[in-house]
Amino acid sequence: MSQPLLLLLLVCSSQASHFYGTVMTYYPKNTNADGSVTVVIRYKLNFHNCGFNSWTCLSGNCGSETSVQGTVDEESSIWCQTERISTRLVPSNAPFGLVFASNSWISNTKNNIVNWRAVTLVELRNRSDTGQANTSPQTTILPAVRVPSNCQRDFNLLAFDPDGDEVRCRYGNDTSPLNECNPCTPPSVLSLSSSCSLSFSPTISSNEGPYAVQLVMEDFPRQTINLTQTSGSQEEKTTIDAISKIPVQFALRGKISCFDSLDLWLIFTE
Ligand SMILES: *[C@@H]1O[C@H](CO)[C@@H](O)[C@H](O)[C@H]1NC(C)=O
Ligand SMILES: *[C@@H]1O[C@H](CO)[C@@H](O)[C@H](O)[C@H]1NC(C)=O
Ligand SMILES: *[C@@H]1O[C@H](CO)[C@@H](O)[C@H](O)[C@H]1NC(C)=O
Repeated sequence: MSQPLLLLLLVCSSQASHFYGTVMTYYPKNTNADGSVTVVIRYKLNFHNCGFNSWTCLSGNCGSETSVQGTVDEESSIWCQTERISTRLVPSNAPFGLVFASNSWISNTKNNIVNWRAVTLVELRNRSDTGQANTSPQTTILPAVRVPSNCQRDFNLLAFDPDGDEVRCRYGNDTSPLNECNPCTPPSVLSLSSSCSLSFSPTISSNEGPYAVQLVMEDFPRQTINLTQTSGSQEEKTTIDAISKIPVQFALRGKISCFDSLDLWLIFTE
């Protein structure tokens, strides 16, 4: 796997409790003789305190799960990142959805997000171009170092797609059937390009403070493909149809002055 680098703007709040974001990726492990599929789903959770929380089934047949989990890193009483590697055995390669939702994003977000909600659409049907089930964009994140920032305000969220798909980012959509966040109000100080670069541009002091950034990353085929279900049914996906959807959610803390250190975390993928 290549080594994309994710630069995520930050979370540095000593406020009580609360959610700081999540990311989920998946890859199919094998298709069994009976048509069932084993898929490995990895997710990270950032909270004020360490602790484990499970995603739940949103749609389709999510099968059964076995999982291992651990703490990735923590700054005691400030933040903790945990990771769960979940292996699901689903009865067929039909798509299914997973959701993680509750209340209490970090307090007082400038974009007024209180409840958290993140969804993943797992697509495992057989692709006509690869002859295999689809893999989501991979964006496994590890917190590494906090670095003092300068005036740099543009960041690329790089993602690797093992199927060679085009990866695009957008803000979550709370009126789409998946209801990707609750609500999805984007930070006013951030602009996002479909190629997953973020530009942070605070203008006035009232822009200072924490923001909840709720993105959806999707993979698009570079040419029209068919997805074939074990049952034989087919669906065509063109270059404007997303195949899978994963959430990339994180907190960002804005500060105006260049020298007043815009807190920054360097987050590397494996
Ligand atoms: C996917 O389809 C190809 C032919 O298009 C076939 O050779 C392959 O066995 C199928 N894979 C699975 C996992 O069903
Ligand atoms: C959100 O989803 C709805 C329903 O699918 C769609 O009509 C709308 O255009 C989407 N909004 C954006 C900003 O893409
Ligand atoms: C997808 O399947 C349809 C119906 O079987 C077929 O006509 C079309 O050529 C297929 N497209 C690709 C890209 O395989």
